[in-house]
Amino acid sequence: MKARTPKESLTILTEIVLPNDTNNLKNLFGGRLLSWMDRASAISAHRHCKRIVVTSSVNNVSFNQPVPQGSIVTIEAKVSRAFTSSIEVFVDVYIEDQTVAGKKTKANEAIYTFVAVDQLGNPINVPPLIPETDQEKKRYEGALRRKQLALILAGKMKPKDATELKALFFSPEEIVNLENHEKESKDQG
Ligand SMILES: CC(C)(COP(=O)(O)OP(=O)(O)OC[C@H]1O[C@@H](n2cnc3c(N)ncnc32)[C@H](O)[C@@H]1OP(=O)(O)O)[C@@H](O)C(=O)NCCC(=O)NCCS
Repeated sequence: MKARTPKESLTILTEIVLPNDTNNLKNLFGGRLLSWMDRASAISAHRHCKRIVVTSSVNNVSFNQPVPQGSIVTIEAKVSRAFTSSIEVFVDVYIEDQTVAGKKTKANEAIYTFVAVDQLGNPINVPPLIPETDQEKKRYEGALRRKQLALILAGKMKPKDATELKALFFSPEEIVNLENHEKESKDQG
């Protein structure tokens, strides 16, 4: 399968915050933003693999600042890594106020994971990703760690199998010691 670059999946969605998008404080309702981010990131994942994709998990969503009614919201989604059937997409959210200055600031960020599926909903393989810029390379490197954490939280992976996560907390020698200790405990029944 032909590898693709992150820029091939870049998806930009621009919205304006109208009264029916807001909460009681006249700021953007979080659920609406999640929906916009899901939509942009699903298109991005589809652009990478050209197949049907379904949202499998949403991580690292942070609502760092309120987004007032009238703001122009730009959502930029780009694939950060592709595994066997799953695709991680980074979403960056910017807001632009409606003053003469039209100041643009980064407001939010989220990481979505999609799985490419066939017509019956069974996972299928996706093309690999080749990161190009420094930021793309950094996001690519962290993706396996995030995948392992998501799988542990979903009860689909045992912490002892999370090699990348272990490497974050322990030195190679400590990992060998831990594995030996685990083996000894198992042997002793
Ligand atoms: C996503 C879905 C297809 C995965 O099915 P599954 O039986 O768990 O499939 P597998 O265990 O074979 O995993 C398939 C891939 O999903 C990944 N995955 C599964 N659960 C995950 C989770 N919680 N977080 C991150 N990735 C996950 C696996 O790591 C695997 O990736 P890989 O092939 O790149 O290694 C299935 O759970 C599904 O259809 N969910 C509903 C999706 C949906 O309807 N979303 C819309 C929102 S309601």
